[in-house]
Amino acid sequence: MSNASAARNAFAAATAEQRNRLRTLDLLISRRSTGALTEPAPQAAELDLILEAGLHVPDHGRLRPWRFVLIRGEARTAFGECLADAVKARDRAAPPALLDRYQAWTLRNSLLIAVGVRIRSGHPVPEVEQVLSTGAAAMNMLNAIHLLGYAGIWVTGANAYDARVNEALGFRAPNKLVGFLAVGTPVNVPEPVPASQRPDRSAHVFEWSAPTAG
Ligand SMILES: Cc1cc2nc3c(=O)[nH]c(=O)nc-3n(C[C@H](O)[C@H](O)[C@H](O)COP(=O)(O)O)c2cc1C
Repeated sequence: MSNASAARNAFAAATAEQRNRLRTLDLLISRRSTGALTEPAPQAAELDLILEAGLHVPDHGRLRPWRFVLIRGEARTAFGECLADAVKARDRAAPPALLDRYQAWTLRNSLLIAVGVRIRSGHPVPEVEQVLSTGAAAMNMLNAIHLLGYAGIWVTGANAYDARVNEALGFRAPNKLVGFLAVGTPVNVPEPVPASQRPDRSAHVFEWSAPTAG
């Protein structure tokens, strides 16, 4: 029996409260990303919870570096044009079909959350920690989205690193975009990852022991 199964069995035999927590953990582990999304997106009260989850992450120095910009409704059309303009500015030969694809992408997703970080340069808390905290915010939101029965995917691509797109979203230095969360209802509930395709634990988890003297 694997360590995970043993721990799970021991836990399952415990109190109702612990069993509830185990169910939540199982649900958390079942999260899959998908970009095949449809209506509805989370509604107001659910979105509040998702954003709240994003604001409850480890944050060294209480810098609160996270910034979330919601792109939804009518604003998606203008944002799609903004992405297409950015692509055109990077590559004047970009085919119209590619530009259309970006516009279609913004309209296909009823909710996009642009996740940004406000970097405090020269702060005793290194920049990497500020970015990591923002990554944790994005992940907490993805988990909340999943736990509420919706789905999402974290995407970046050249547009996420484009100064024009950053500027349009209000992420002028020292702010920067770390990615978009596309959020909605999955067209098909993603299948769990088969055990054979899960990361091999032995390649990622190591037991440390003190080096032997000599
Ligand atoms: C910072 C970051 C950027 C990503 N950018 C993209 C992207 O632009 N396009 C994409 O298809 N997946 C991207 N991914 C990967 C997906 O978000 C997702 O992790 C992947 O499809 C695996 O799915 P899973 O979450 O179900 O394991 C990115 C992931 C991270 C962490």
